[in-house]
Amino acid sequence: MSGDDRRPRALVTGGSSGIGAAVVAALAADGWSVLAVGRDLGRLDAVAAAAGGDVVPVVADLADDADLVRLADRVGPAPLDALVHAAGVIALAPVADVEPADLDAQWRVNLRAPFLLTRALLPALRAAPGDVVFVNSGAGLRANAGWSGYAASKFGLRALADALRAEERTHGVRVTSVYPGRTDTPMQRQVFAAEARRYDPSGLVPPEAVAAHVLAALATARPACVPDVEVRPV
Ligand SMILES: NC(=O)c1ccc[n+]([C@@H]2O[C@H](COP(=O)([O-])OP(=O)(O)OC[C@H]3O[C@@H](n4cnc5c(N)ncnc54)[C@H](OP(=O)(O)O)[C@@H]3O)[C@@H](O)[C@H]2O)c1
Repeated sequence: MSGDDRRPRALVTGGSSGIGAAVVAALAADGWSVLAVGRDLGRLDAVAAAAGGDVVPVVADLADDADLVRLADRVGPAPLDALVHAAGVIALAPVADVEPADLDAQWRVNLRAPFLLTRALLPALRAAPGDVVFVNSGAGLRANAGWSGYAASKFGLRALADALRAEERTHGVRVTSVYPGRTDTPMQRQVFAAEARRYDPSGLVPPEAVAAHVLAALATARPACVPDVEVRPV
């Protein structure tokens, strides 16, 4: 929460689905003012309506540089208490078969957009001072066969988080990487399909459980911080 009387303000990418939508709902329930980012206004409106509270949908394609600039302008210089990067895409293939377009999409959405958006919003984050939360993946810690492109983007995201944490500590900006295991979301349905398995959500992490750890990191009393959190199925 913010250190003064104003309502804390967050921007959540991937706010239209899965883990990001669960973070939006949890923040709204906790009294935050939330900008929820995605490409589809209808999906964002549905998340905002379900969440209640102060949730403002913002349409932006994170793979588009002009949209990244517009998004940062929309946030403006006012203090930003939390920037949660939850948007992500996945395309599984062995290195021998990787399509360049799939590689580029994962690099742009999973790593380049968090990089550039964080850079653009640092003045607002320092003004709070706020938290940056990167929703990483177990694939950001271990790279398995078939996961090269996605894992490379997530290993890179971990590097971004670690360097940013070291750089921004003097400004009071905290940085957390959250590493979910397999979580019950549309992305995980896509993974099961790629693995030619029937979707079975039992045994998967609920997105709300990941969101709870994001909020716990944000609520951690300063000057403590939570650098890394793993949330895995039992
Ligand atoms: N599910 C898992 O098992 C799992 C495990 C570990 C880590 N993760 C990570 O958790 C994060 C959330 O994943 P999820 O499982 O919740 O996936 P999801 O349900 O498929 O949601 C993905 C989100 O990313 C947004 N997005 C994708 N491409 C975008 C673009 N070009 N511009 C703007 N937004 C874009 C989507 O918005 P649109 O409405 O625009 O499509 C959607 O809100 C990702 O970073 C993922 O890598 C997931």
